[in-house]
Amino acid sequence: MAQPSASQAPASSPRHVAIIMDGNGRWAKQRGRPRTFGHAEGVEALRRTVEAAGELGVQYLTVFGFSTENWRRPAEEVSALFDLLRLYVARDLDKLVNEGVRVRVIGERKGLQPDIAEIIENAEAKSRQNDKLNLIIAFNYGGQDEIARAARRLVADVAAGKIRTEDINPDTFGAYLDTAGWPPPDLLIRTSNEYRLSNFMLWQAAYTELVFTDTLWPDFDKRALESAIAEYNKRERRFGGTEPVAS
Ligand code: FPP
Repeated sequence: MAQPSASQAPASSPRHVAIIMDGNGRWAKQRGRPRTFGHAEGVEALRRTVEAAGELGVQYLTVFGFSTENWRRPAEEVSALFDLLRLYVARDLDKLVNEGVRVRVIGERKGLQPDIAEIIENAEAKSRQNDKLNLIIAFNYGGQDEIARAARRLVADVAAGKIRTEDINPDTFGAYLDTAGWPPPDLLIRTSNEYRLSNFMLWQAAYTELVFTDTLWPDFDKRALESAIAEYNKRERRFGGTEPVAS
């Protein structure tokens, strides 16, 4: 991945971009192919986007790979999505590590097949020393599930006397989320003309700028990312106040 150069990296690239990679099924249907073909092409779009995010100086890129609700899909499709995670990590991990990408995975790990859990732990461990771009893959992730898991851990800490009830506030609660210590997304992109959060980053997206595009995910590329960033740069962020806040 090329280092961001003065000409490539807009001064105002958002620090954290989150993406709901939607439209794989429709992209495949338009071509008379199975949905899984669309997901496979979705991985190619993901590879392009990770490369582009690094070039544009984005520091955190969070992508929605598999939701806690995606278990409702046919078993064959679920299994294909798991295979694509295996394939993506097997094919790209060394390259990502060499390019300074730190891989993190958020979501419920319990109940994942042991080899998937191992692949995730290995990717996180191998890339631990990197800090150029954090690639955060939300896998078996749901915002409500994340908040419920955080609440369970928090209650256990209250019971153990590690935190007092009166000290619970958005900052202390945030430290129990999967995203503890990371900045919230500045920009959230959803592809394929759908206008929902679909249980993605519910807590973290409180003041995130939302950009919706009709591009289907397998067609997403650097130009599409630049265009979403350009839209983001037109927004005035006030975070509930009356004056713009530099972000
Ligand atoms: C939504 O499209 C996409 C998903 C549910 C999965 C996203 C997965 C990838 C891009 C590839 C896998 C990447 C990893 C890291 C595992 P959809 O199937 O809902 O599309 P549709 O709305 O057109 O049916």
